[in-house]
Amino acid sequence: MLDAKVSGLINEQVNKELYSAYLYLDFANYYYDMGLDGFANWYDIQAQEERDHAMLMRQYLTNNGVKVTLTEIAKPDVEVDSPMAALKAGLAHEQYVTSLINTIYAAADEVRDYRTMQFLDWFVKEQGEEEMNSEDLIRKFELFGNDAKGLYELNKELQGRVYSAPSLVL
Ligand code: FEO
Repeated sequence: MLDAKVSGLINEQVNKELYSAYLYLDFANYYYDMGLDGFANWYDIQAQEERDHAMLMRQYLTNNGVKVTLTEIAKPDVEVDSPMAALKAGLAHEQYVTSLINTIYAAADEVRDYRTMQFLDWFVKEQGEEEMNSEDLIRKFELFGNDAKGLYELNKELQGRVYSAPSLVL
């Protein structure tokens, strides 16, 4: 049986991952509206990954006999007014999510819940990758985004991102 605090935090994280998906769909909407469909595609796939994260956490709780409670998903609260603003907001959001995962990890560690720590190891690694991808996107935009041809090429590159299912299977 899972510790109540640990399972409560994971349940909250289900909502937060769904919010992340919602936020990234909002970013994608912004880019579609600008005609940058490659950037929009990148965030559409990011949104799909966030939904996967929520489903994995839901599955973990269900597998451990915990009934998941769904709550209201907040409206995306980031005002995006430039292509770079969305990228920077995306990185800041991922850094925030990393802190949330770390908090759950610490709670599991406190009650010697090694099963949950092992489950969360995948998310710790995933957060490292997501922060790295967000930083990479900002770096590329700084290098190429201010030139029309560079932006065209970068948009084309991001158009090529394809969805792949999470490597974690429960
Ligand atoms: Fe589910 Fe981008 O963290």
